[in-house]
Amino acid sequence: MLNGAVLPEPEPSLCRALAADFRDVGYTAEAVRAAWGDAADDAIARGLRSPADRALGVRDDALAVLGRLLVLGMPQAAASVDRALARTGADGLVRLGLASVSGGEVAPLAVVRPQSFTAPFESGQWWIASDLDEAALGGPLPEDHVLGVGGASLTLAGLQLSTPAARGLDIGAGCGIQALRARAHVDHVVATDISERALGFTRLNALLNGVDGIDVRLGSLFEPVAGEQFDRIVSNPPFVITPRVADVPAYEYRDGGMVGDDVVAAFVQGVGEHLAPGGIAQLLGNWETRDGEPGLDRVRAWVETSPVALDAWVVERESLDPLSYAELWVRDGGTQAGMRGFSGLVDAWIDDFASRNVTEVGFGYLLLRRPLAGAPTLARYERLAGSTAGGEPGRAPRRRPRCP
Ligand SMILES: C[S@@+](CC[C@H](N)C(=O)[O-])C[C@H]1O[C@@H](n2cnc3c(N)ncnc32)[C@H](O)[C@@H]1O
Repeated sequence: MLNGAVLPEPEPSLCRALAADFRDVGYTAEAVRAAWGDAADDAIARGLRSPADRALGVRDDALAVLGRLLVLGMPQAAASVDRALARTGADGLVRLGLASVSGGEVAPLAVVRPQSFTAPFESGQWWIASDLDEAALGGPLPEDHVLGVGGASLTLAGLQLSTPAARGLDIGAGCGIQALRARAHVDHVVATDISERALGFTRLNALLNGVDGIDVRLGSLFEPVAGEQFDRIVSNPPFVITPRVADVPAYEYRDGGMVGDDVVAAFVQGVGEHLAPGGIAQLLGNWETRDGEPGLDRVRAWVETSPVALDAWVVERESLDPLSYAELWVRDGGTQAGMRGFSGLVDAWIDDFASRNVTEVGFGYLLLRRPLAGAPTLARYERLAGSTAGGEPGRAPRRRPRCP
C-alpha cells in the first residue's frame, strides 16, 4: 500500500502565509496540549485520537479547528478552515498538497504538528508537516509513509553538537527535523533521502519555519554526495532489522532494504571519506549479537575496518532479545494487519534472526570523528548500565516506552 499521488508542494509565499497564520492563532505545542489536556495528548502518540477530539467538544475556534485538522487528521468544514487560516485558507492548504476539498469539507492529506524542542542551553519551536499517521489514518501505514517527529528523532536532535560548522549532511532526512536542527549551528546543510515525498516535506518544513540553507538531494546513503566532504554528518537511518521474505511490509521510514544490521555497517564504513578532517558524524543504530559475538564488538570491527581511520564513541543504550524486538516492530505501523497476521510476522523475524544466530539486538548512539591529522585516539564502546528495557529505533514512542 502506498500514499496517494499528491506530493507536498513547497511554494515559498504560501508557506510564509501559513506560518503567519499559525503565529496569529498561537498554534504551539503547548497551546494544543493545553486545549485537550496531557492525557489526551499522550494518547495521540499511542495512535488514539478520540480522547483529544472529545476534549475539544463543540469548540470551533481557530486552535480547535487546526488541532482537529492538522494534529488529529480529521476533516473540517471549509468555512471553519478559512476562518482559522485567514491568509492561507482551505485553498492554500490544497495548493501546498496538505489537504483536499470536497463538498464544503477539507480533508487533511498530511499532519502539520507544532513541535517544541529542548536541548541543553537551547530550545525552539517548529511546525513539522509529515504524512498522516496511525492516529489519523485509523489503520496501517503505507510503505512510503513519511515519518513525523518521533522519540528517536528527538533523541538525535538532542544529541547533535551545538558548535559552529560550515557544511553539514543529513542522510535520511524524512520530514527534515535533523536538517532543521543542524542548521541552527551549521551554515549549509545537504539533506538526502530515497523518498521524493520525504524531500518534499523537508523543503516545505524548511520554508514553513523560515530556515534557508538546506538543499535536498534524492538518492541512497552517500550516492548523492559522491566526492564531497562535510564537517558534520547526522543520520537517523532506516536501521530497523527486517526479514527479507515475501509479505513482510518494507516501510521506507525504518527499513533500509538490507539484511540484518548491514545498513548501519554500510554507514560506518562509508562515512569516513565524506568527513572533512576533524569532521564528526552522529547517528543512531541497531546492532546484532551474532554467534556469541557482542553487538558492540561488531560495531568496533566496522569502525576498525573503515577505509578512513576514525575516532569512535559508541553507546549501547538498550538491548532486546529477538522475540521482543520482533513484537515491537511487528506492532509498529500496524503491520499485524498484513497477509501473514501478527504471529506469522513474528515468526518471520524469529526465523531471520535464527538464520544469523542472533541472540540480542542493541540500540544506541554512534559518534565518529575523522582525526584532523594522524591516527585515531578515541575508541570508546560502552553499554549503559541496566540497558535491557526496550529499543527505540525509527519511530515515536507508541505502545511501549521506547525513548525519552
Ligand atoms: C527513521 S527515518 C528518519 C527521518 C528523520 N531524519 C528523523 O530523524 O525523524 C529514516 C529515513 O531514511 C530514509 N531512507 C530509507 N532508506 C534510505 C537510503 N538507502 N538512503 C537514504 N535514506 C533512506 C527514509 O525514507 C526515511 O525518511
